[in-house]
Amino acid sequence: MNWSNGFETICRTDVPLRQYTWYQLGGSAKWLCEPRSEAELCALLVRIREAGLPWRVLGRGANLIVRDGGFDGVVIRLSDPVFSRMRVDGEALDAGAGADFQKLIRDSFDHDRVGLELLAGIPGTLGGVIRMNAGGRYGQIADFVRRVRIVRSEGALETRFAREVGFGYRRTELDGCVVIGAELKLASGDGAAARERYREIWNEKFQTQPPVAKRSAGCVFKNPPGDSAGRLLDEVGMKSARVGGAVVSDRHANFIVAQRSACASDVLRLIDIARDRVWSATGVRLELEVEVW
Ligand code: EPU
Repeated sequence: MNWSNGFETICRTDVPLRQYTWYQLGGSAKWLCEPRSEAELCALLVRIREAGLPWRVLGRGANLIVRDGGFDGVVIRLSDPVFSRMRVDGEALDAGAGADFQKLIRDSFDHDRVGLELLAGIPGTLGGVIRMNAGGRYGQIADFVRRVRIVRSEGALETRFAREVGFGYRRTELDGCVVIGAELKLASGDGAAARERYREIWNEKFQTQPPVAKRSAGCVFKNPPGDSAGRLLDEVGMKSARVGGAVVSDRHANFIVAQRSACASDVLRLIDIARDRVWSATGVRLELEVEVW
């Protein structure tokens, strides 16, 4: 029996992933599945587990490099609108993991809920942002999370309080789970003022980083404790370094931008060169922030 029997309407085979990632690079997913309800997602995870297949969840692909050979397993996308609902109730904002994070921030201002403006310019779905505890100079999503709803790999739904999620610097202990939604705590305030601050932070960010329209995955490496990976990479002369169609940004050395001719292996080779250079010059071992499939 084929593992995906009964899931034919939501699973496709050999689906190119480049169309779903900011880098627009890399190969195909052996299977791409888009469940239409939480129950269907749970049943799908049970089946994947029984079949012993590797699987991943794809958000907006904003922090992802797919290898040229693709991913030989199941990729799950929470693209159905059922996964991007949003509801405001007092100081709680409840949203589905598939919601576009920047849209969610702007929608929160319409309800005069404030705080998320500090995370302006961080791309992705809410689920992806939570999974990696995304953040920037002014904060991280963990500062706003009250509860996270997940499905465990054996198909069980669970709600965890923020303290049970293992939030750390660009990490959580949610590996092996699918985040399906979260309750954020947001103060009431002046939505218009928050929107103004949001615009300011967005502008500030994109004066020092490559424009959003460029193909990149944001910062490639995590910052080492007390330092900036971008600063270190700059110091060792990585700005404008190139392998094939992959180029280190001349604005911020922790960004690798893909040009038209790039393939994923160019980006990965440039990453190795960057890491080796910083290691030999400073003894600092940079850790990847981007995910590689
Ligand atoms: N710097 C350089 N050269 C560079 C880059 C940075 O000298 O090429 C210097 C800057 O001048 C500054 C310092 O290094 O003095 C820190 O730079 P920046 O303010 O740009 O912050 P960052 O630590 O490099 C972090 C996040 C970014 C986020 C920015 C702004 C990480 C790994 N990076 O970068 O997040 O946008 O703060 O909030 O946490 C991402 O996560 O994908 C990302 C880009």
